[in-house]
Amino acid sequence: MRKGGLAALFATSAAQRMAFAILRAFKPNLRLKRRLITAYENSGTAIITRHSDVTEVLEREADFAVVYEPRMRAITGGENFFLGMQDSAAYQHDVSLMRLIIRREDVATRLIPLVTREAASIVAQAGDCMDVAADLTQRIPVRILAKYFGLPGPSEAVMIRWTTQMFWYLFSDLGADAAVGAAALEDAAACRLYLDGAIAERRANPTEDDDILNRCLAMPGVDELTIRNNLTGLMIGLVPTLNKAAILALSQLMARPEALAAAQAAARADDDALLAAHLFEALRFDPANPIIYRRATRDCVIARGHFRALQIPAGTMVLAANLSAMFDPFALEAPREFRTDRPWGDYMLWGYGMHTCFGAHINRAVIPQMLKPLLTCANLRAEAAPDCLGTPFPAHFRVCWKAQGTPP
Ligand code: HEM
Repeated sequence: MRKGGLAALFATSAAQRMAFAILRAFKPNLRLKRRLITAYENSGTAIITRHSDVTEVLEREADFAVVYEPRMRAITGGENFFLGMQDSAAYQHDVSLMRLIIRREDVATRLIPLVTREAASIVAQAGDCMDVAADLTQRIPVRILAKYFGLPGPSEAVMIRWTTQMFWYLFSDLGADAAVGAAALEDAAACRLYLDGAIAERRANPTEDDDILNRCLAMPGVDELTIRNNLTGLMIGLVPTLNKAAILALSQLMARPEALAAAQAAARADDDALLAAHLFEALRFDPANPIIYRRATRDCVIARGHFRALQIPAGTMVLAANLSAMFDPFALEAPREFRTDRPWGDYMLWGYGMHTCFGAHINRAVIPQMLKPLLTCANLRAEAAPDCLGTPFPAHFRVCWKAQGTPP
């Protein structure tokens, strides 16, 4: 996004919420000649803010298409990945294949036990202060890759860097920064080599582990390249997102002492559902992806028949503001209040429609479990705001607490 102008107006989530509230009231569907996103070809911009119109855009995938294909191909060194595809045989094949391999029941039987164990051990070793981003919320996702996927990578630090840099290039580098692209393509090449090696090594020396790599290799008719491309997309989707969402949820919670105390009480009482309700309500105020963008494949109209109907010329980049949708008083009860009794359908934290996050059920389970041991600590306080080191992703977030046995 270009510096200044709208970008500056949208710099913090509070500013975004205010700007979207004004748009929802006075110009719910806005068209601009300017291209706010330059990373992907387009002829102008439309900003869509009402809940019903945001869902309309994301449901009409034939008219409002994903744009990521060229950068997906640059990352894989050739093939597209299913998030870059429109509804097609290839899309349905790859999603179905990966759903057979990464199964819903694994969340309860594999992921929750793994994350519970790793998070408890990290927090126990921390004393009375820790860098939550560097030591917990970046680490847990790469441990999922190591232990559940069977992909430890050259090191945890390298896996964090590769996945974060590639994600940045694919989804967040809206202004097409050459340095971001160069670093991502270098990391992508290294990651492809690593995956080729890991797949070949496992093929040559099979193990008994029930991990994702073995499940991929056990699938009939699936070649090495298909495995590599799909694993690349999933790795990228998994690490920076879980890290960012966990830090955003935690910092929104820590900015609300009453909600923090209630979340901590839920964590200590082992009430995972109540803990999750606090964390996802907190994330609603600052979701990892506040907008989801699509390009119009033809001239079309959004909100046809309403006063706010908007003509969208083919080629327009349509910004469907899911953050705004989650604050739309026509769709949610008292959206500006922090409430923990909202129906799950009120949340649009990781997309909507055909491309809704593949990891949705993983996110719902992993984020609370990852933060739970930290939230059981007394007198939690942040030493400073999360530091992204000039990237879109939290790199450091130092939080301290009162060590057990210390007088109050
Ligand atoms: C809290 C963490 C996460 C957030 C905030 C998040 C966000 C999103 C969003 C917004 C989309 C839709 C993108 C669009 O429509 O343009 C999406 C799709 C996707 N996500 Fe996630 N994600 C998270 C975690 C994960 C995890 C853990 C995985 C892997 C297991 C994953 C893999 C994917 C994939 C493969 C898609 C494409 C789905 C499709 O095209 O059908 N994500 N995610």
